[in-house]
Parts: sequence; C-alpha cells; structure tokens
Amino acid sequence: MTDSLLLRALRGEALERPPVWFMRQAGRYLPEYHDVRNQVDFLTLCRRPDLAAEVTLQPLRRFGFDASIVFNDILVPPAAMGMDLEFIKGRGPVFHDPLRAPADLDRLQVPDVQTEMPEVLETIRRLVAQLEVPLFGFAGAPFTLAAYMIEGSGSKNFLHIKNWVLHHPDALHELLGNLADLCGAYLQAQADAGAAAVQLFDTWAGVLGRDDFDRFVVPYAQRALAGVSGVPRLYFTRDCGAVLDRLRAVDADAYALDWRVDLAQARQVLGEVPIMGNLDPVALYGPPDEIRRRVAAVIQSAGPKGHVFNLGHGILPTTPIEGVRCAVDAVRAWRW
Ligand code: CP3
Repeated sequence: MTDSLLLRALRGEALERPPVWFMRQAGRYLPEYHDVRNQVDFLTLCRRPDLAAEVTLQPLRRFGFDASIVFNDILVPPAAMGMDLEFIKGRGPVFHDPLRAPADLDRLQVPDVQTEMPEVLETIRRLVAQLEVPLFGFAGAPFTLAAYMIEGSGSKNFLHIKNWVLHHPDALHELLGNLADLCGAYLQAQADAGAAAVQLFDTWAGVLGRDDFDRFVVPYAQRALAGVSGVPRLYFTRDCGAVLDRLRAVDADAYALDWRVDLAQARQVLGEVPIMGNLDPVALYGPPDEIRRRVAAVIQSAGPKGHVFNLGHGILPTTPIEGVRCAVDAVRAWRW
C-alpha cells in the first residue's frame, strides 16, 4: 500500500498520472446502492458493518478508483454525543433538538470512540482485509459539525451559529474544543483500525469572514488534526478561496479544494504541499469531450507533483454513471 499512487501523491512525488477517487463515490447515483438502501434506513446502513462495507466496495467494482472511503456520515459522532438525528428523504439530515443556548451544551456527552462508535471501526477492519487500494477514514471538522448541531440542518444564512459567534463566543469555543478532541480521537481510532489516510471535511468553513475564520475554524481544525499521527491527514474546505492564504495555519498533509479555486493559483498561495481536487461535480453531466477537456484542465493546473484527482465537492445523487466512467477513464489514461 505504501507504493500506491495515492500515498505517493500524498508524499509529494511526481507521478505519471494522478490517483483518482471521488468524494461521496458511494451513494445514490448507483442503482446497486439503492438495492441496499431499500432494505434499511440510512443510519442503520452506517451502523451495519456488513452493509457499510458492501456499499463502500460498490464504486470500486465499477470504476477502478485508486482509493476508497469508508461508508459513514459526518453526523454520526454528534448523534453519539446524544443529539437526535434523522435523515429525512428530500430534506437531508435534521437534528430535532438543535443547540440554541449555551445551557444546551450540558446535555451533550463525550462518547468513547471504541465503545460507543465501534461500528465504523469494525467496517474499516473488514474492508482493509479485502481491499487492494488505500482506505480513507474521515470526520466532519469542528466548525462544520457545530454548524449542523446549532442550525439543526443545512442553512442558507447560518444565522444561529453566527448568533453564537456574536453573543456566546465562549460557549462556542467550548463546543468547538470538545468537538476537536473527539474528532482527533475518532480519526486516530480509524487509522489504528487500518485506514491508510484520513480526511477532515469542513464543508461550511467558507461561511465566515476572515477574522471569524481565524478564531472559529482554524484553531479547531488544527487541534483535530494534531490529534492524529501515523497517516496522511487531508483537510477539505469549501468556498474558502478568499482565505486560501490562511489555510496553511491548519497543519495538514494535503489540502482538498473546491472547484472555484484554480489549482495553479492555489499552489502559489499554499506553497509546496500536496493538493486534491477539484473538478466541478456538475461537469460529470457534460458530454464526453467536454468532460475530458475539463479533466485535462484540472490535471494541467495542478501539475505532476503531489496531486490527487478528485471532485471539488461530493458527487450529486443524479449524476450519470457514464459521466463518472468517462472522467475516471480520462484520469487513468493521462500521462505526463
Ligand atoms: O462515499 C463516500 O464519500 C462516503 C460516504 C459519505 C457520506 N457522507 C454518505 C452519505 C461521506 C464522506 C459523507 C460526508 C458528509 N455528510 C458531509 C461532508 C462532505 C460534503 O458533502 O459536504 C456532509 C456535509 C454530510 C451531511 C449529510 N449527510 C448531507 C448534507 C447529506 C445529504 C442530504 C441529501 O439527501 O442529499 C447526508 C446523507 C448522506 N451521506 C447520503 C450518503 C450516501 C445520502 C443518504 C441516503 O441514502 O438517502
């Protein structure tokens, strides 16, 4: 595995072609995923190592990705902290008891990863026994988890968490600190169970201005990743083009960037560090020639050294399978 394209790219090596995998590569765009999901609800699927392992393997069988990512969700740890989580069809994840005042922090528990979240570790152990490509473990980053826990669901303006920034900064720091420690322990446990790399997803990091980003995002993503050793640690942000120069304050081994960022420009700002990305997930709906043109543009802008090809965000549920195949084949056929 240490010779795999993925781990070589994450060591900053120059390669003939980049390794390729897609965020959310398991899921609803695959008919075989629906076959499994029709039997159980989403959280049960996350908690059943046999089914979660099966769903993880589905995209690998079809497309020949160079990495896999354990099937789970970033909101499983907040559920283990005691929050009432439901995935509602058509609406996405909902916490029925969002945190709305500092006193609400009292109802949260700090779960022990080994005893209270054992399922994901068991899924990882099963997968590494049979996988031929490296497996990613992952967690949601503290700010993104806090945003879900306080908003109760996805949000447009993030009024509730910004209300905590304004009125309850100390309580927000306390919550973020607890989440950072949990994330660190959770990612380390996944690495110990056999994950070859880990990724921290900070989907909502881009909703804050620079000063608030420095206060509420950076220190806690940093603290979570500082809790992990022995495997490469990736940090994914979305909508963070305006704070790219602040990203290296989070000490990650590689940075995953969304499609709005030009990778050549990102290299100039970030310096010599591996990067991952960043095809627009919607590009997969395009005609084959256009997909190939855009794949080539991403690879060209990243250059041959230290690049992992990925989408700039998770794959969408209505994505045409032929588009996925076309993009993956184009990356695999590339030669510098
Ligand atoms: O293949 C993989 O990448 C592994 C699985 C994975 C899922 N969620 C499965 C999933 C990963 C890595 C995630 C991360 C995740 N979950 C993030 C961070 C990355 C990102 O996309 O921004 C976030 C913000 C979540 C929270 C979440 N979970 C949302 C917003 C949704 C989707 C709502 C919807 O219906 O579109 C989920 C549900 C979810 N997570 C599904 C899957 C396959 C769909 C659930 C279903 O089968 O109905």
